[in-house]
Amino acid sequence: MSSSTTTLVTNIGSLVTNDTAHAESPTDNLGLIHDAAVLIDGDRIAWAGRAAAAPPADTAYDAKGRAVIPGFVDSHSHLVFAGDRTQEFNARMSGRAYSAGGIRTTVAATRAATDEALEANVTRYLREALRQGTTTFETKSGYGLTTHDEARALRIASRHTDEVTYLGAHIVSPDYADDPAAYVALVTGEMLDACAPHARWIDVFCEKGAFDGDQARAILTAGKARGLHPRIHANQLSHGPGVQLAAELDAASADHCTHLTDADVDALANSRTVATLLPGAEFSTRAAWPDARRLLDAGATVALSTDCNPGSSFTSSMPFCIALAVRDMGMTPDEAIWSATAGGAAALRRTDIGRVTPGARADLVLLDAPSHVHLAYRPGVPLVSEVWRGGVRTTGHAG
Ligand code: NIG
Ligand code: FE
Repeated sequence: MSSSTTTLVTNIGSLVTNDTAHAESPTDNLGLIHDAAVLIDGDRIAWAGRAAAAPPADTAYDAKGRAVIPGFVDSHSHLVFAGDRTQEFNARMSGRAYSAGGIRTTVAATRAATDEALEANVTRYLREALRQGTTTFETKSGYGLTTHDEARALRIASRHTDEVTYLGAHIVSPDYADDPAAYVALVTGEMLDACAPHARWIDVFCEKGAFDGDQARAILTAGKARGLHPRIHANQLSHGPGVQLAAELDAASADHCTHLTDADVDALANSRTVATLLPGAEFSTRAAWPDARRLLDAGATVALSTDCNPGSSFTSSMPFCIALAVRDMGMTPDEAIWSATAGGAAALRRTDIGRVTPGARADLVLLDAPSHVHLAYRPGVPLVSEVWRGGVRTTGHAG
């Protein structure tokens, strides 16, 4: 046994483990345990099961009958930015369409911001997300679009998470408006050299008004050669080559997946690439919802994430995304909870998070509710009462 302190979180009304060893049927992915307890040893889960069978521990913590789920894994966000785009949102809600061009507004504000201001912004949105149950998050560059500003964004992001993504190819930099090929050369050359040491992933916005399929392939392939693994913004605003490219390059995730052909759905179902759906973006751009049901029925792995950014989805709330996915995208509450936890972990190719199993990081969310289903059943209500991250009780709405 280790020398760290053990804590038994007990009197859990219902526990989502995402461990099929506890499944009651072949279709039960949540591995739900009633009247449960979780043994934490240092920053890891040591045991989970029925409270009546719990092993001894140094201390006990009473969950008072609340539901417990794994911490949310938010596998797609853009948190290194300055300013906001309230006017653009107002205009959209008055009927104007969303376009990739709005990104330029945030690029200008981000370039003008000090390191301290950017750092303070990341910290603020992370605290906000943690209070809502997010214990792991990915975040991207993409609002700098110069070698200096992209590398700076990644350095700041990497002080807060290991899941850092180089998105120099968010849009063609305004400085290269007349020569997109030269910008692709920069993104795959000098900028990649400066950014690769600070990132795990490389991403491209593959869309009309951003980068086409050939450009996206060149960028992701160059990143792969530098040891970065691909993920891609695909098929958000229109049909396009992004999803097929994701499958071809073994991207960890194809994100958005709003406009899919049958061949796209097949490609996702028959690859390791996770379909990451971002309902906050459709909500905030008044767009048609991605069809989670179609992807799940075809056998694809689906993740849910916030896409938190000041343009298309200014929410850090995974519970909000779960509620939208259940109400409007054809997911059951069980599927949505799985996708927001284990699904996000799959999109980051991680097995140590998103589940309450021995050896996993001790990331737990205690809900002021008898069941995880209340996350969709009681939308907009701050149900996250406590968050444990790496075995440490941190924060929550109920304090
Ligand atoms: O994921 N799609 C591209 N990037 C972001 C939007 C960024 C912005 O509008 O600032 C997204 O939706
Ligand atoms: Fe995004």
